[in-house]
Amino acid sequence: MTEPAPGVFRDRPVSFVRRSGRMSEAQERAWSELAPAFVLPVPRDTAATSVARGAELDPVAVWGRTAPLVVEIGSGQGHAIVHGASSRPDDDFLAVEVFRAGLARTMLDAERAALRNLRLVEANAPEVLERLLPAGSVDELWVFFPDPWHKKKHTKRRLVQPEFVPHAGRAVRPGGMLRLATDWEDYARQMRDVLDAAPEFERAFEDDWAPRFDGRVLTAFERKGERAGRAIRDLVYRRAGA
Ligand SMILES: C[S@@+](CC[C@H](N)C(=O)[O-])C[C@H]1O[C@@H](n2cnc3c(N)ncnc32)[C@H](O)[C@@H]1O
Repeated sequence: MTEPAPGVFRDRPVSFVRRSGRMSEAQERAWSELAPAFVLPVPRDTAATSVARGAELDPVAVWGRTAPLVVEIGSGQGHAIVHGASSRPDDDFLAVEVFRAGLARTMLDAERAALRNLRLVEANAPEVLERLLPAGSVDELWVFFPDPWHKKKHTKRRLVQPEFVPHAGRAVRPGGMLRLATDWEDYARQMRDVLDAAPEFERAFEDDWAPRFDGRVLTAFERKGERAGRAIRDLVYRRAGA
């Protein structure tokens, strides 16, 4: 990703359209009361969800310990990551999302579960992988039900495409895992083509698709795909070079 000139917006399309939907009262409260404890401050570039160059975080300072780090990008309402952080207290978790109401919901659930091992970032995921996370700091990277952008003229907005690979490859440590799931067959194939061709990653499944990742909870997006008769595809790749 080349740096836009000062004052110039991003030089390539992002994988989201920011929803301006109002937050509920509980979500507003969550944001003002809980964000200081959960949401990491991010130095910005031009765009509101950007990450400034040189803005690397220090995991030991953030989580107060050295532990395996699981990062979910596009965490939505936070169901998968709250479940992960609750069931794996010895690991640290980072939710990356641009949808504020989703981050607020995640914090409410995290507070209810008294989670201390979960932090959130409101930022564009490729920039988080490229700039915010130290190289090789991530043990597991999760991408579950990314926006499908299924119209042909929009597929360039998809998160998982060749440009995504160096960012993911930089953040995930050698031997670390990249887990993906989608209910859109052609996106699943695109993910598999892109990652099979990437020297940074090795396939970690034997058949056409990986078995369902048992750490993945059923979300509205998966239910919607199933109701529409779409097959759910899981994929898992290992970062090469271990
Ligand atoms: C279809 S939803 C899936 C949410 C969740 N993973 C689930 O399975 O319920 C995709 C989410 O990814 C977020 N998203 C899309 N592009 C993103 C990006 N570049 N950076 C951060 N979040 C992104 C969207 O805001 C949306 O909440």
